[in-house]
Amino acid sequence: MAHFSKPAEGSWTEHFKIDTGPRSYEDSISPELYELERDAIFRRTWLNVGRVEQLPRKGSYFTKELDAARASVIVVRGMDGEVRAFHNVCRHRGNKLVWNDFPREETSGVCRQFTCKYHAWRYSLEGELTFVQQESEFFDLDKSQYGLVTVQAEVWEGFIFVNLDQDNTTPLRDYLGKFAKGIEGYPFHKLTQVHKYRAEIGSNWKLFIDAFAEFYHAPILHQGQYEPEEARKIQKYGYQALAYDVDGPHSMVSSWGGVAPPKEKNVVKPIERVLRSGLFGPWEAPDIGLDTLPPGVNPVKDSRWGMDSFVFFPNFMLLIWKPNWVLTYHYWPTSYNTHIFEGTAYFVPPKNALERLQQERCVVSFKEYGLQDANTLEATQTMLESRTVTEFPLNDQEILLRHLHNAADQYVRDHQRRQASGAPSTAS
Ligand code: FES
Repeated sequence: MAHFSKPAEGSWTEHFKIDTGPRSYEDSISPELYELERDAIFRRTWLNVGRVEQLPRKGSYFTKELDAARASVIVVRGMDGEVRAFHNVCRHRGNKLVWNDFPREETSGVCRQFTCKYHAWRYSLEGELTFVQQESEFFDLDKSQYGLVTVQAEVWEGFIFVNLDQDNTTPLRDYLGKFAKGIEGYPFHKLTQVHKYRAEIGSNWKLFIDAFAEFYHAPILHQGQYEPEEARKIQKYGYQALAYDVDGPHSMVSSWGGVAPPKEKNVVKPIERVLRSGLFGPWEAPDIGLDTLPPGVNPVKDSRWGMDSFVFFPNFMLLIWKPNWVLTYHYWPTSYNTHIFEGTAYFVPPKNALERLQQERCVVSFKEYGLQDANTLEATQTMLESRTVTEFPLNDQEILLRHLHNAADQYVRDHQRRQASGAPSTAS
C-alpha cells in the first residue's frame, strides 16, 4: 500500500502534506477555544464510552460523565438485548436519573427499570416513562411524550460509542474509517481480563494525546526503564517508527517491538527476566485463536513489528501489541487545562499464576511509563500558559501531533462557519 511506504525522500510530514513550520499551542491554553471545542468536537463526534462486556445481561447499565459535552449518559442493555444510550436526565424536573452517593460520580449495575430519587418517576430500560407518582395531580400528562432523551449509540467490535449530535447521520463505521475496517476481526471479545487506571491530569486533553502519539521522547524520558547500558544505546540511536498514516481526523503509528523478547536478556531488568514480561507484554504470547492478523494491524508487515497505536478522533486511542494484548486510552476534558485520563489493559484470562504475574508485570510497567509521561504534562501546561514562548518546532516523528491539532482546529473552524451562517447542525 503506497501510502504506508516510508517516503523515498523528504519526510512523513511532507508526505502527508502537513505544514512543517513551528506550531502554536494556543489551542491548549485558551479557555475560549476550549469552549468552542466542547460544541464543535465533543458534541458532534462519536465517543467511545465502554465495551459490551460491561453490559453482560439484560438490564446491565453504566453511566458516563461527558463533562466536555455538558452531558451525562446512561448506557444500558434493554430487555431485547440491544445496547441503547439516554441522557441521564429525569423528564419531571431535571434531576440526574442514575447515580449513587455522589451525583458527579459514574456508576453501574443491573436493574429492571430506572427510578428517579426525587419523586420516583420510573423509566423502562428502553427509555419509556412507565410510572408517575400521583399521576392524577398532573394536567393532561401524556406519559408517551416524556420518555428519556435518546442518545445515538452504536457498537464497533464490542466498543460502544455514543454521539450527542441529534442531527448526526454518519454511521459509526463510516466515521471510524479505514483504520477501523482494517482492524475488524481482531478477537477483542476474548480479552476479558481487564486492568484500569484513572487519573486527574493538570493539562489540556490534547497534550496527553501528544505525549503518546510520538516516541521521540521514549529514549530520554523513559531511560530509567532500561538497564543503563541499554539506555545509552537507545539514546545514541534514537527512535524511528515503522510507519505513520492518517485518515480524516484519525491517525496511526506502527512501531517496532522493543524488548519482547530481548535477544540479550541483560538489556532488561531482573524482574522482567524472572517473569519473562515487560512493557511490551508477556514474552510468550498467549493463544487468542488468531492465525493471521487483520490487514490493518502491522500494516507494513514488518518482521520487527511490536505495536500499533491508533487515534480515533477525538479522544480514543487503541494500541494493539504483538504479544496478543490491547491497551486503550481515553482523555476526557474537564476544563481547558484539566482532563481525566483512563488507561485500560485487556488480556486473555490467565491460565495459571505465572501468566497472571506476567500480566501484572506488564500493567505495572505501563503505569510507570504513564506516570513518567503524565509528570511532564502539568509542567508543560503551566509554561505554555505563561506565553513566554508561543511557537514550537516539531520534528517528523511528531507528525501525529500536528495532525491532531489540525483536526481539532478544523472542527472548530467548521463549527464557527456554521454558527456564522446560521446553518443548522449537520452530520460530521
Ligand atoms: Fe425526577 Fe421529579 S425530578 S421524579
